Amino acid sequence: MLNNDLVLRAARGEKTERTPVWLMRQAGRILPEYRALREKFPDFKTYIKTPEAVVEATLQPVDILGVDAAIIFSDILVIPEAMGLDYEMVEKKGPFFPKKIENEQDIKNLTIANPAEKLSYVTDAIKLAKSALSNRMPLIGFAGAPWTIFAYMTEGSGSKTFSKARKWLYCEPQASHLLLEKITQSTILYLKAQIKAGADLVQIFDSWAGILPPKQYQTFSIKYISQICDAITEVPITVFAKDAYFARAALSNLNCQVVGLDWCMDIAESRKLIPNKTLQGNFDPCNLYADKKTIKLETEKMLKAFGSERYIANLGHGLYPDIEADKVKYFIEIIKEYKHTN
Ligand code: CP3
Repeated sequence: MLNNDLVLRAARGEKTERTPVWLMRQAGRILPEYRALREKFPDFKTYIKTPEAVVEATLQPVDILGVDAAIIFSDILVIPEAMGLDYEMVEKKGPFFPKKIENEQDIKNLTIANPAEKLSYVTDAIKLAKSALSNRMPLIGFAGAPWTIFAYMTEGSGSKTFSKARKWLYCEPQASHLLLEKITQSTILYLKAQIKAGADLVQIFDSWAGILPPKQYQTFSIKYISQICDAITEVPITVFAKDAYFARAALSNLNCQVVGLDWCMDIAESRKLIPNKTLQGNFDPCNLYADKKTIKLETEKMLKAFGSERYIANLGHGLYPDIEADKVKYFIEIIKEYKHTN
């Protein structure tokens, strides 16, 4: 039994005494304590492959920021690597794949990731983090949505347009489906391994949902997220599809418990379009650059609009590295102190 199970209860649609809160990208560069630890490692990948270091980064936001859930410190790109496509995390630039997916043969050469063989550094870290948390609160596991992982694997890096990735959908739809199926199967095995290791809830990040036209989004993304949601029955699942305002009704039909909202999605409209799920989000991370008075006003506005039930407070996307930890702490305090009147 967890001492603080607010996030899990809200995810299941149960009543909570107050609104629970955690933040996407709560671990990492906003904390000087993380930056100090990270300096001891040559690169990000070595860091996330060192379970003891992962546990420290996972627990820092719990102790320093006061959130209601921990999220395992890792990255969505561990899946391409486990399927046979190596990546580098270039300082200040982001992911880079020395050899990206360029033709059907490249897809055929990929394997379905075997978590026991290739991702034990994540599951070992989850086991250690669960023990370090000693039932204080839930631990969130995660993976990228197949479309977002596909986008990095075919583009070879981050991109403003992901036009190389999108070209695949128009020019090679069958091969695209083959790759998406392989990623989906790998992701299901990976999430199940995370749950077996102790993850209490899992989140699927579809960071590049918003660049597809609605019909393609249905065919090339929702279809595969749906397969993942149907396969994961052990713990609640959150689906966060950034910028997919057009897909909210479709998201409400998924076999998931929580839907994440970005800051552009209207709260009342989202409640209507997704009436049967717990919602998570949707504070604009840039609002945390503002003064404390503005942060308080806007946070309370958001809490009131979501109401007291079926809600997990969070941001509309991850924290940016230059947001002050003190303002983040303040945002969390306001949420924890807020008394709903509705
Ligand atoms: O606190 C947490 O949320 C847990 C850790 C976490 C990281 N990445 C650590 C990280 C999580 C949940 C992710 C998910 C992730 N990774 C996503 C989905 C969420 C989103 O932001 O849309 C995506 C698209 C990635 C891919 C990725 N990883 C990019 C584009 C980058 C470079 C840009 C950046 O933010 O620096 C990363 C690197 C990365 N992942 C860092 C961290 C802390 C920075 C590297 C470092 O600290 O050295």
